[in-house]
Formats: sequence, C-alpha cells, structure tokens
Amino acid sequence: VKRIGILTSGGDCAGLNAVIRAVYAHARGHFGWDVVGIHNGTAGLLARPVEATELDDRVLGSDMLRQGGTILGTTNKGDPFAFPMEDGNKVDRSAEVIAGYRDLHLDALIGIGGDGSMAILRRLAALGGINLVTVPKTIDNDVGVTEESIGFETAVQTATEALDHLQPTAASHSRVMVLEVMGRDAGHIALSAGIAGGADVILIPEIPYRFAAIEEKLKALRQRGRNFALIIVAEAVKTEDGQSITAVHSGGGKGARTYGGIGHYIGEEIARRSGAETRVTVLGHVQRGGTPEPKDRLLGSAFGVHAVDLIAAGKFDRMVAWREREVIDVPIEAAIAHYQAVDPAGALVKTARGLGISFGD
Ligand code: F6P
Repeated sequence: VKRIGILTSGGDCAGLNAVIRAVYAHARGHFGWDVVGIHNGTAGLLARPVEATELDDRVLGSDMLRQGGTILGTTNKGDPFAFPMEDGNKVDRSAEVIAGYRDLHLDALIGIGGDGSMAILRRLAALGGINLVTVPKTIDNDVGVTEESIGFETAVQTATEALDHLQPTAASHSRVMVLEVMGRDAGHIALSAGIAGGADVILIPEIPYRFAAIEEKLKALRQRGRNFALIIVAEAVKTEDGQSITAVHSGGGKGARTYGGIGHYIGEEIARRSGAETRVTVLGHVQRGGTPEPKDRLLGSAFGVHAVDLIAAGKFDRMVAWREREVIDVPIEAAIAHYQAVDPAGALVKTARGLGISFGD
C-alpha cells in the first residue's frame, strides 16, 4: 500500500473531521502513505477532472478536531446506481465513479457513511475491485452492530441543551413544551436526550402512543404541583392512528425542505385536548452541526486509526465498530443487514420508565 483515498458520504455530522485527521495522522505518520481526500462523496469521483486533494501536514496543524461538518464536503443526493438527472430520470453512473476512482491510482478507500452510503460503496467496491473499509457515522445512531456511530453524541448534546433551554421558559409561563428532534426512522436521539434533559414524555416510533396516556401523565404532573411539562418527539413518530406526518425526513435533494410536522401535530392535539398552553420547537439541522463532543472526537480518532490498520493488514470489506469499550471490525454486510432501532425492552427505555418518564403507551 502506498496511497489511500478517503471520502465522507451522506448527511454530515460532528466528528467526521476527527476521522479524517486520524486517518491522515496514522497513514502518513506511521506508514508513510499518501492520503487523498475525495470531495463531496462519490460526486467527486463523478466529476471530470476528478475532485480530490492530496492531504498534507496542514491537517495536523489545523483545528479540524474541533470543527463540525466535513472538510471534504459530502452529498446525499447522488446514488451513482440511480443518479438523478436534470430531466428527472435516474441513470446508472457507477462505471463513471469507478473510472474516477481508478484515475486517482489508489490502493484502498476509506468511506465514512451511514448504512445507505455504505451499501452504495460496497456495491461500487464489488464492481470495481476497490479495497474498501468503512467508518459508521450518523446522528441517527441506527447502524447495526456498532454501539455508536460518529455524530450521535453531539446531536444528543444539542437536543439535551435544547431541553435545558426550554425548561426555564416552560416553568416561567406554565407551558407544555414539545421538542421535535431528528433520528430518521429511529428514536435514539429522542430517547437519550429525553432522559438526559429531564423530559416528562418521550415519543419514539418504536413505541406506539395514545393521547389518553399522555393526558394522564400531564394530569398527574399537575396534581403533583408541576406547572410545566417537557415532551420530546422523534421525527418519525406517526399520528395516533398511524399516519406519517413529517413529510420529508431523508436524503438530500434540491429546493427548501421544511422539517417538522409531527411535533406540531402533537402540540396542537395536546392543547386541544387538555387546554394546556403549548409551544412547539423543531430542532432540525442544528443537531447536525456544532463543535464535536469529546466522545465523537474519541470515536472518530479510534475509528480512523483502526481503519488504517485494517488496510495495512489487507482486511477489506470491513466496517469499524465500537463494542464493549473496544474498536472492532465486522463485515460491512453484517452492519447493513442489521438495522438498529431502539429496543423497547432495552436498558435506556427501562431507565426512562424507572424515572417515571411516559412513552404515552
Ligand atoms: O440521517 C441524518 C438526518 O439528519 C436525519 O436525522 C434527517 O431526517 C435527515 O438526515 C435530513 O436530511 P437532509 O439533510 O438531506 O435534509
């Protein structure tokens, strides 16, 4: 191995730069390899000339460890196997991506992405003979096998801070505050931030709710002398009768995308049913940026170093993962095949119930 590539793919999150920095530090510093940063995920490999930059020691001198986002840029709208063209048609451009990769004369590729991106990269690797290693990232924390993905901790921190900010104003005005958070199809952010931020009700797609149960909880709080309540709602929660409300909660695309839907529905229904003064906040993309939490920097660093070691050992088609205080690696396929939703019988749901937090069930 002499020269490796690295790209970030799918929605950004905090901690991506820590991975890039660690990959460069270990690949260059320990093995003496060249490291090429590919711009904007696979879009950089589609561009002609290919859009990529050779990384140098400025990576180590910069403060990128502390920066959210990704210095390489990313995209989540360009599946090369079904690439959206201007006329609305989708075409297979995978051969162009592979040709772009070949142009860079790389011995291996590190792809940082969520399950969707990893599936695409794996298909490209199989077709193009690319020696691929992947690093899991997503604020949604829904990638299988790994206990955590890059970006989740920072998103939880942001959502927790939002509850910290909502509590005093809720108490001052005797209001019910509803906070809608991201998570795509999973409720991990809502569950963790709900516990850490002292929510009274946590609504997640994995546990169906009834308004009657939420009302009961709010009534019990009032009877105990509480003049406010905090409710956190994951974006994928449905209406009480199972309709999807949050119109778009995935995947790039042109034009303005408006987030929020289910939070407003929950807030309006609670106000209508209980008469409570209710306000709704939709946190949106604030959860994606921000200064990476130490855990995301640590995970990013550990994942980056391990990914490089896998390449040095000639172990490909592997994803690095965090398990029981260790960095391990697993077949990418195993991680993709196992979608990680919240376990309704898991430790955090038990913790929340033990604290008297209601899931509205
Ligand atoms: O998967 C990460 C995520 O932030 C989801 O939580 C959210 O639903 C989606 O991406 C937003 O996508 P976009 O940035 O394309 O609007």
